[in-house]
Amino acid sequence: MNFDQNYWQNRYQNDLTGWDLGHVSRPLKFIIDNLSNKQISILIPGAGNAYEALYLLQLGFKDITVLDIAQQPLKLLSQKIRDTSSLKIIHEDFFNHTGAYDLILEQTFFCALHPHLRSKYVSMVHELLKTGGQLEGVLFNFNGIRESPPFTISEKEYKELFQEKFDTIQLEKCSNSEDSRKNKELIIKIIKNGK
Ligand SMILES: C[S@@+](CC[C@H](N)C(=O)[O-])C[C@H]1O[C@@H](n2cnc3c(N)ncnc32)[C@H](O)[C@@H]1O
Repeated sequence: MNFDQNYWQNRYQNDLTGWDLGHVSRPLKFIIDNLSNKQISILIPGAGNAYEALYLLQLGFKDITVLDIAQQPLKLLSQKIRDTSSLKIIHEDFFNHTGAYDLILEQTFFCALHPHLRSKYVSMVHELLKTGGQLEGVLFNFNGIRESPPFTISEKEYKELFQEKFDTIQLEKCSNSEDSRKNKELIIKIIKNGK
């Protein structure tokens, strides 16, 4: 099966969006609440309904980019925004995106990608971060081989994968997951430091 634009668009059109929390998740809220500089450039790839983008806007962040391959959530998001000067909404495949960001926020995007795209994801994150830039967020980590998203791997495999491009990788069990995701998430922070 191809997990392409049609696949994701259909999931939204048919309301098959079990991942959608309806609000900014606890771990992302915690990460955002600890950001001090509101001028940093932030990319949210595979953002879906992007509740974290609305939260960032509410806090006064000035340079947010939301990107998704599916049009439907982006349309909904654009209807919720009055002032578009701080938020760019981009309908695009992440793997075609170009830019330079201080922060990339990850949540249920990595796990949406077919396993053969994992190394490419890491290379793209590396390419899209400025030197000193960071990827922060949550990654799924639970047992079970699946044939459709969410695809997950072990903590050790995540480390090996990100080590292909990054030296500084912090990965640990997430202590503030949403109840439905307790013990199924890792919190990740990686820094691009010139490797
Ligand atoms: C499981 S959903 C998660 C959405 C959102 N991050 C959340 O937590 O609610 C995965 C999202 O990734 C998007 N997606 C999948 N492949 C993509 C790609 N190659 N480029 C951009 N977005 C993609 C899907 O359209 C979908 O919105």
